Amino acid sequence: MSSEKDFSDTIYGLSKKRGFFWGPSPEIYGGSAGFFDLGPLGKLLKNRLESRIRSEFVRAGFWEVECPTVSPEIVWKASGHLDGFIDPVTQCTKCGQVFRADNLIKELAPEAKVDGLSPKELTEKIEELGIECPSCKSPLGSVEPYNLMMKTRLGLAQDAYLRPETATSTYLLFRRFLTFFRGKLPASVFQIGKAYRNEISPRQGVLRLREFTQVEGQIFLLEQDEIDWPSFENIEKEVLPLLPYQPQEADKSDVTLTKMSDALKKGFFQKPAYAWCVYVAYKIFREMGFSDEVMRLRQHLPTERAHYAADAWDVEIYTKSFGWVECCGIHDRGNYDLSRHQEFSKENLSVKVDKKPVVPNVLEIAFGVERPLFCLIDNSYVEDEERVWLRFAAEIAPIQVAVFPLMGKDELVGPAKILFESIMNAGFVAQYDQGGSIGRRYRRQDEVGTPYCVTIDYETLEDGSVTLRDRDSMLQTRVHKDDLPGILEALISGKSRFESLEK
Ligand code: GLY
Repeated sequence: MSSEKDFSDTIYGLSKKRGFFWGPSPEIYGGSAGFFDLGPLGKLLKNRLESRIRSEFVRAGFWEVECPTVSPEIVWKASGHLDGFIDPVTQCTKCGQVFRADNLIKELAPEAKVDGLSPKELTEKIEELGIECPSCKSPLGSVEPYNLMMKTRLGLAQDAYLRPETATSTYLLFRRFLTFFRGKLPASVFQIGKAYRNEISPRQGVLRLREFTQVEGQIFLLEQDEIDWPSFENIEKEVLPLLPYQPQEADKSDVTLTKMSDALKKGFFQKPAYAWCVYVAYKIFREMGFSDEVMRLRQHLPTERAHYAADAWDVEIYTKSFGWVECCGIHDRGNYDLSRHQEFSKENLSVKVDKKPVVPNVLEIAFGVERPLFCLIDNSYVEDEERVWLRFAAEIAPIQVAVFPLMGKDELVGPAKILFESIMNAGFVAQYDQGGSIGRRYRRQDEVGTPYCVTIDYETLEDGSVTLRDRDSMLQTRVHKDDLPGILEALISGKSRFESLEK
């Protein structure tokens, strides 16, 4: 078994070898940090995650929209990103290398407290701790704010930025939503689309990307709705792994399995609507295949919150590669965004409450797809005496069924290809393989997490039966080929178990 230290190398190695992700991209030109290509299996896996995410949002009453990824500068002035979406950086006075100041301090002086410090305070901290350039040991310059947005131009003269979040582009449609939802709030919408962040020196592979696919759900609602949120009743008995911020126990890291009604009573959440959003985020991650054992919901420290957030919780996933990884943020954005866009656009973004104009509030669920994708591969990896395999849930696995002729003989290859076609036509993602020994073909499928393999042999020619092999147990059974679509559907959807099939 790989040691913890090199576990991420193992995951990246497998991912590259088997076509989950490649990079940094463009590889043949040396690669730029923060950009990755998805190979065929990575893309299939991502599509599956996105389809689960989409279903959960739709089930929770959200409608999907899609907006441009580029907007003129005024949008980002209004959103606060131009002034507030910044990282503190310091440059070496001799070799010119640039570092993210807070991360550098954390790396070289782990006990130092840096969260929430201003650039001036970070400069002082660097001096106080005697931190110098890690490369050439020369003094570092003063810490300056560095904007993370990628700049571009519309036509010759108009400054514009690639969106650092989908959220802002969603807010710009608020008046349109009011018409679509016939003037009624709450109104819930979501986007799945690309976002861009010009990170200084992204180093954690696909966990920190400069271009990524973001999923963001937004609920526009009034203050009263945040308290009177009928859907909370449906989830009040649900038990979640919570790690609330409690100032007197700020260093506590134990998760408490807490019933949502108790969480509200204990004051972990102030508003039922916000608590419900935290549950929806949790449910999405459960649907993507993460169990309570590897998941926790952690409340942000007041100093950690983004410039727009009144309260924030994260979904974190435990990985063998990197420990706890922040995967999703749930933000109470108040009416910050709509107020700012109303002010800058001069459009009325209020609704009438008791005949008075009120700018609605926003609750948000926000995450990138690539992080859960990595975490899922990390969590699914198993290496035992016999094999390396990925323990994806059958519904999530990129390839659902592999079809093999026992040998590359014409009399087996023909029927195997016909069966492969019929499995594809039944709507499964299948792969046909006739290369190498049958044992090697099983191993290849195990390594990419394919839950079921079907082999055609000489018995098939006599009685139509095929061998169906289960990835997890490596057990095999014989079933009639005409029954395969139904059997596979029941197995993959979890309606039946392999062990229950007649031997
Ligand atoms: N929209 C919130 C975020 O990008 O994290």
